[in-house]
Amino acid sequence: MNGDPTAATAPTSRRHLLPTTRHELQVLAAARPAMAGILVAGGVLAGPRPGGAGGLRQVPGLGWVTADPTVGRQVLTDHQHFTLVAEGGVGHLWAQILGDWVLDLFDGPGHHDLRARSRELFTEANAATLVGTAWGDELARVRGELAAGESVDVGHLARVLVGRMMISLLGIPGPRDAEPPSTAEALAAFTTGERLAAIALGSAGSTYLAPEQVASARALVAELTRGVPDGWRHASPDHLLGRCREIGLGLSETTGLASLLLVAGTETSASAMSRTAALLVDTGEQHRLLRRLAAERERPVERAAGEPDAVENAVREGLRVTSPASVIGRGVSADVEVAGRTLRAGERILILTWAANVAAGPFRADRPYAPQTRQLWFGAGRHLCLGAALARAEIAALLHALWDDGAPLRIVSRRATRRALVPGYDRLVVARA
Ligand code: HEM
Repeated sequence: MNGDPTAATAPTSRRHLLPTTRHELQVLAAARPAMAGILVAGGVLAGPRPGGAGGLRQVPGLGWVTADPTVGRQVLTDHQHFTLVAEGGVGHLWAQILGDWVLDLFDGPGHHDLRARSRELFTEANAATLVGTAWGDELARVRGELAAGESVDVGHLARVLVGRMMISLLGIPGPRDAEPPSTAEALAAFTTGERLAAIALGSAGSTYLAPEQVASARALVAELTRGVPDGWRHASPDHLLGRCREIGLGLSETTGLASLLLVAGTETSASAMSRTAALLVDTGEQHRLLRRLAAERERPVERAAGEPDAVENAVREGLRVTSPASVIGRGVSADVEVAGRTLRAGERILILTWAANVAAGPFRADRPYAPQTRQLWFGAGRHLCLGAALARAEIAALLHALWDDGAPLRIVSRRATRRALVPGYDRLVVARA
């Protein structure tokens, strides 16, 4: 739907029945059909209950499941009773790949130390610079192509851009000179990160890995991080690896952090970028965004601290509705009462972040901050996404490149990614409407 936004956001019976757009549901189903079913059904069965009691259910094969944002946040911020290094959490998976030192780095005193030291790695201010440096040329090319009436494959573009970001952040695939990475190198970096993330496919039921999964994951980590030792020793402090050294991270911590950045920040960012672009067109909300952009150009308004501009607002909404990290798992480390239920040590809980976030309503480019979800798409508590500022800057840079010229876009063709941990678009070809 490319037409008038008022018509696009008018409620229809179909719109009321579906938690999100038909295309978004297709993207979820193509990536992980079973998980798509869990997310949609979980939103109905494990969402907030009337009267404020949280929806929390036990599902055979999955453990405890919730799609209530308040319960989700309570779990993520309760570090006394929940952990991500026990079975059910992503740290448990990583410890098998990287070694037991991960346990401390991910959840113990080492994690606190790592977060305290790495706080300044991705700030709002340096995220914009990182994006400008790594993506400036490519995005200028895209603007030119759209203006010339050509089509652009945003699915492919997002993978190339994110691959470039990883190369520029981590110095992969090896020590680089000043040459910008080629498209093939960027895609190769992205694909290796994707393959590493795919190891976690199927971990919704158990985070124990088979020996062959551990072996192939170790080979991928070695391949992806082979530029890290050199970068850690020699890179200047204005590069991420140099900064890691300067803030006192050792080589193994830096290598662990580098692997984590690759897995956490590759598919998630690319997914949010192309799906947000598709949502803006599919819902007609691009017209609202274009109107707001034009108004901002005409008379710049003073915004209160933290109040988003038109693009930042659409980015937040894109993150909410796509929620690329659609579930977050935790292990229960000590018996605890949550939402009137008793969870026992050794059990696991799956927070359906996607379902909790989409329940706030359909995609609206100017939706105000929703206090119930806050920014649950980035998690909460001590593991809140380290790359949140970078992810927001990445999506914003793409939206600016696509819509700054003031012209609406149409979707020429699309293909959702099949069998992937994070749902997304293999291909999303757009052109001026
Ligand atoms: C749209 C893009 C992104 C989304 C939706 C996202 C989401 C998340 C979520 C939900 C978590 C918490 C996981 C948990 O509690 O188990 C997380 C953690 C993390 N993210 Fe992101 N992320 C994104 C992009 C990035 C980027 C670009 C980077 C860095 C380059 C990054 C680095 C990290 C790291 C290092 C952690 C682990 C933090 C910790 O355990 O202390 N993420 N992310």
